[in-house]
Amino acid sequence: MKLPVSLFVFALLYSFLLATSAHTHENFLQCLTLHSGNDSISKVIYTPSNSSYSSVLESSIRNPRFLTPSTPKPLVIITPLGISQIQEILSCAQKHGMQVRVRSGGHDYEGLSYVSPVPFVILDMINLRNISVDVENSFAWVQSGATLGELYYEIAEQSKTLGFPAGLCPTIGVGGHFSGGGYGTILRKYGLAADNVIDAHLIDVKGRFLDRKSMGEDLFWAIRGGGGASFGVIVAWKIKLVPVPSTVTVFTVNKNLEQNATKLLHRWQYVADKFDKDLFIRVLLTGVNSSQEGKKTVQAAFNSLYLGGKDKLLPLMQESFPELGLVSEDCKEMSWIQSILYFAGFPSGQSLDVLLNRTLTVPSYKAKSDYVKNPIPESGLEGIWQRLYEKETELAGLILTPYGGKMSEISESAIPFPHRAGNIYKIQYLVYWSEEGTAATESHVSWIRRLYAYMAPYVSKSPREAYINYRDLDIGTNNEGNTSYRQARIWGTKYFKNNFKRLVHVKTVFDPTNFFRNEQTIPPLSH
Ligand code: FDA
Repeated sequence: MKLPVSLFVFALLYSFLLATSAHTHENFLQCLTLHSGNDSISKVIYTPSNSSYSSVLESSIRNPRFLTPSTPKPLVIITPLGISQIQEILSCAQKHGMQVRVRSGGHDYEGLSYVSPVPFVILDMINLRNISVDVENSFAWVQSGATLGELYYEIAEQSKTLGFPAGLCPTIGVGGHFSGGGYGTILRKYGLAADNVIDAHLIDVKGRFLDRKSMGEDLFWAIRGGGGASFGVIVAWKIKLVPVPSTVTVFTVNKNLEQNATKLLHRWQYVADKFDKDLFIRVLLTGVNSSQEGKKTVQAAFNSLYLGGKDKLLPLMQESFPELGLVSEDCKEMSWIQSILYFAGFPSGQSLDVLLNRTLTVPSYKAKSDYVKNPIPESGLEGIWQRLYEKETELAGLILTPYGGKMSEISESAIPFPHRAGNIYKIQYLVYWSEEGTAATESHVSWIRRLYAYMAPYVSKSPREAYINYRDLDIGTNNEGNTSYRQARIWGTKYFKNNFKRLVHVKTVFDPTNFFRNEQTIPPLSH
């Protein structure tokens, strides 16, 4: 049989790549065992021939969109037990041209911590998750493989009146989350997780173990919001714990279009960022079946945390957002840690132990984000409703998170996260699907892109800002290996605005060869 020339060239190239990557991976493993002196590292190395390889790989894949047979898999997964093993991995990976993807909680929306188009190793931080809380001095050290649930649990074990302003989903890893900012229900009072990081331990490209003092203020600035993966391996964060009252109040008030949802949401845009800092009311928008047979409507869920009792909340709502009609029966009083379970969607009465559960099973999804600086007119909101009635929206919605309060007091350049004063709220667009195959993926991704295109007139412009922790490769990507500053600027200014330039400067100083890289890492200037 005669092969067409192009197929022949492809087959040749493919077998060459396979041979090269097998070679790379063998040399890399040999290097590791040589360096480690004793064989302790071999116990935490997983290759495809190891029976635990798949379960370790899948243990923190949070988006099944990146768990298909055709998704590129790592040649090796390593779950280091300490600093010296991380240093060895970085050194051997550089020697043998192996790309490293660092994974903490695996929640990256585009799977960048466990997928790469080139031969790669996953450095999984799962074994490094110590947490030590110092109640007297209101701080904690947390290793990057810990989840938010483990952190919240540990804080609550030690104190009923200390908390931490980070995300709502307990399975998120602190390694990636704090690196990109990290927000939760108390952002209006205390800002982001990254705003409350006061020291860090990092291993850089040269294998140096650095703390805030030895890394210097430029690198310490960059790792608090500049996105994970660009500057080194974060081993641990020192965080400032914040005071929370012993009683907080939560509520969720649902309104559909027949119950005036459009007007209420329109009004919410004028007050949500101006409320007392103790009050956080976000809105979840979904398309649902109407009570009228065969008709659809939109549900707006006004979902709130107030740092105090309902005796104070009710008059505050009466004064600042009476249109919602909040009544005492809507409110539930509880401790701050119970509010963490409430926002994570657990039923009331659930034991706090669920915070230690690291499993999260969700269908495939795609998400995007926007920032809103001027209220969207009712006619604009009605256009969103039309899109929530389309066939792809069975599991789709928008989450509107109010800013203002502390978020507006922190300067745009204090850390790389730049979305501060002037933003009323952030939108997250989300679509999930459980059908397998490329057709389902394409139709759902296309739906969210159409919605995003529709929103352009109503959201931030030049740049159209986006949240790095809601990773979205649609807004631009690096070229593997040789990204130019001009090319990276396209997505970089959306995530970081003017801070992008300083991030590039820090990268150029600390990782000039661009060893730490993925589709959206900060490039050094020479590239
Ligand atoms: P993952 O391990 O995938 O890492 C993300 C990125 O950081 C990757 O590029 C990775 O290589 C890098 N990285 C990870 N660990 C590192 C380390 N130790 N050193 C250096 N680089 C490292 N966000 C938010 O602000 N508030 C919220 O409430 C939520 N809620 C939420 C719910 C769900 C279900 C998901 C899937 C995601 C969120 N997020 C969120 C987004 C979340 O903050 C974001 O995905 C984080 O980057 C996740 O951090 P992980 O460590 O879990 O991810």
